[in-house]
Amino acid sequence: MKSILDFQKKKLIKEKISMITCYDYSFARIIAETKIDCILVGDSSAQVMHGHNTTLNSSTAVIALHTAAVAKGSPNKFLIADMPFLSTRKGLKNSMDQVEKLMKAGAQAVKIEGAEGHLELIKHIVESGVPVMGHLGLTPQSIHQIGGPKVQGKAQEAADKILADSVALEKAGCFSLVLECVPNDLAKKITAALKIPTIGIGAGSSTDGQVLVLQDMLGMNKDFKPKFLKKYLNGFDLISEALNSYVTEVKNAEFPSKEQSYE
Ligand code: KIV
Repeated sequence: MKSILDFQKKKLIKEKISMITCYDYSFARIIAETKIDCILVGDSSAQVMHGHNTTLNSSTAVIALHTAAVAKGSPNKFLIADMPFLSTRKGLKNSMDQVEKLMKAGAQAVKIEGAEGHLELIKHIVESGVPVMGHLGLTPQSIHQIGGPKVQGKAQEAADKILADSVALEKAGCFSLVLECVPNDLAKKITAALKIPTIGIGAGSSTDGQVLVLQDMLGMNKDFKPKFLKKYLNGFDLISEALNSYVTEVKNAEFPSKEQSYE
C-alpha cells in the first residue's frame, strides 16, 4: 500500500488490511519483501524494545529514531508513526511540532489514541496535509485511568461511547481506525457504521484489517500470552537454540571452521 487511498480502496473491495509494528532496520528489510500492507512504528516500542512496563515512557524523539530506521528498510510500505503519551495534550503548537518530527523522520501518517479532546487537533493535522489514524477501545496511554489492560466496551453505555467516538473520529478526518480489545460484536457494528477501514487487535475478525506487534506474533516473549495473540513462530526457542548452538561450537572449537576462516 502506497497511500491512504489504498486503505479506502481495500475497504470498498472488502480486501483485508494487514498491519504490523516494526521498530528497526533489519526487520523492516524483511517486511519490505513480504505481502504486509503497512507498518506501524508504535509506542509499544517502549515495552518491546526498551523494556518498560507501559507505553508511557515513549517519546517523539525515540519514535522518530525508530521511524527513520524503518523508513530506510521498508521504503515501499505505508508507514504510520504513533504520537506518544501526552504529545497531543500540550497545546496545538507543541502537537504540530511532534507531528512534524515524525513526518520528517519518514512517516506518511500519525496515529493518535482517543477521541475526547482530540477532534479539533485531528482536524487541524488533517487540514495541514497529514493523514491521521485513530485508535479507540483499549488505549494503552490511558492505562492508569482505565485500570489495566482490560477489554473495553463490554457494557452497553461504554459500547455506545466507543461507537460515537468512532463516528466523531471519521468526521474529524481520520483515514482509518485501530480498535484494540473490544468485543467482536462492537467491532463489527463500528466497521459497518464507518466508511473508513477499521484495523483490529483483540477485536475479532469483522474489522477491515488486523494489526499485531511483530515481536509478539514471532513469539519472542514467552511470557506474553494475551487471548487475542496468535504466535506464528516460536521465536524465543528458535533464537535460544541458535545462540546455544553457537556457544557449543565456540567451546568445541568447531566455529569458525575452515569455511569461515581466511587462508
Ligand atoms: O503501539 C502499538 O503497537 C499499537 C498497536 C497495538 C495498535 O498501538
